[in-house]
Amino acid sequence: MIVITGASGKLGSLVVDRLLERVPADQVGVSVRDPERADGLAARGVRVRRGDFAEPSSLTAAFEGATQVLLVSVNAIGPEKVAQHIGAVDAAYAAGAKRVLYTSHQGAGAASLFSPMVDHAATEEYLSALGTPFTSLRNGYYADTIPALFGQAIETGELVAPADGPVSWTAHADLAEAAARTLVDGLFDGPTPPLTAPDVYDLEQVAALLSELSGRPVRRVVVDDEEWRAGMVARGVPEDRATLLLGTFLASRRGEFAATDPALEELLGRPATALREFLGHRLAGGLGGRG
Ligand SMILES: NC(=O)c1ccc[n+]([C@@H]2O[C@H](COP(=O)([O-])OP(=O)(O)OC[C@H]3O[C@@H](n4cnc5c(N)ncnc54)[C@H](OP(=O)(O)O)[C@@H]3O)[C@@H](O)[C@H]2O)c1
Repeated sequence: MIVITGASGKLGSLVVDRLLERVPADQVGVSVRDPERADGLAARGVRVRRGDFAEPSSLTAAFEGATQVLLVSVNAIGPEKVAQHIGAVDAAYAAGAKRVLYTSHQGAGAASLFSPMVDHAATEEYLSALGTPFTSLRNGYYADTIPALFGQAIETGELVAPADGPVSWTAHADLAEAAARTLVDGLFDGPTPPLTAPDVYDLEQVAALLSELSGRPVRRVVVDDEEWRAGMVARGVPEDRATLLLGTFLASRRGEFAATDPALEELLGRPATALREFLGHRLAGGLGGRG
C-alpha cells in the first residue's frame, strides 16, 4: 500500500487523485489530521486513517502496511517542523515502508536565506544519514505563490516587493503528477533534480504578465527590504512571519530559485504548465481560486 500524508491539503489531494488513475484504490491509504475532511476519498475506496506528525504515536496505525510513504512537508517552520518530519520518517520505516518520499524544495540548502529551505535541508540530511531508500522530491517554487502574495497588484496597479530574482514558478498540478509517477514507477534515489517548469520569471516579468493577461497596467515597484517588512507588520502580519517572507526575496535575489531542469517534463511526458497559462487560468477563475 502507498500512504500519502497531507492528503486534505492542496498538493497531497492532487497526488492522491493522480495516484488513483494508476493504482487500485485499495492499494492507496491517506494519513490526515481530520479524517472527516477525507470522506470523499473513503467513498472512493481509499483507506483513511488519522495521523498527526505532532503526535507520532498516531502514525503507527496511519502508516500500517505501507510499502511506500509520501510525507508531504507540513506548513509549519523551524525546529518544530524538522522534528515532526523526523518523527514521521521514523514512523514510516518502523511501519515497514521500503521507501520514504518527502516533498522538499528546489532551493533546499543549509545556507539558504529563506528559512524553510534550511528546514528541508535538515530533513534531507536526516533521511540521507539513515542509509535507507528515500526520495526527496525537490519541488519547484509554487506558482500558486504569485496569486497568494501579489494577486492584489491587478487592483492596485502596483506589484510592490523588495528586489527579487528569477524563479522557475511551477504548478501544483504538475508536481502532484510527478510525485504520483515517481511513487508508481519507483523512480529516483535520494534528492531528485529540481522539478521545475522550464522558464524563469522575476517579478518585473510577472508584473508584465499580469498586465497583459488582465488588460490592466501593473507596475513593478521595488521597495527597501526593511520598509517592506515594516509595512507587512503594520498590516497585521506577525513579525516572525514578515521576516520569513522577506527571506524569499533575499534568496531569489541570490538566485536560489533560478534553477530549471528538464526532469519534470520528462517525468510528465509533456510540457510543464507555463506561467502564462497558469496565471491566465487563475485570472479566469479569480486569483483567489485554487490552481
Ligand atoms: N514548493 C514550494 O514552493 C512550497 C511553497 C509553500 C509550501 N511548500 C511546502 O509544501 C507543502 C504542501 O503544500 P500545499 O500547497 O499542499 O500546502 P497545504 O495545502 O497547506 O497543505 C499542507 C498539509 O500539511 C498538513 N499538515 C500540517 N501539519 C501537519 C501535522 N502536524 N501532521 C500531519 N500533517 C500536517 C496539512 O494537514 P491538514 O489538511 O490537516 O491541515 C495539509 O494537508 C507545505 O506544507 C509546505 O511544507 C512548498
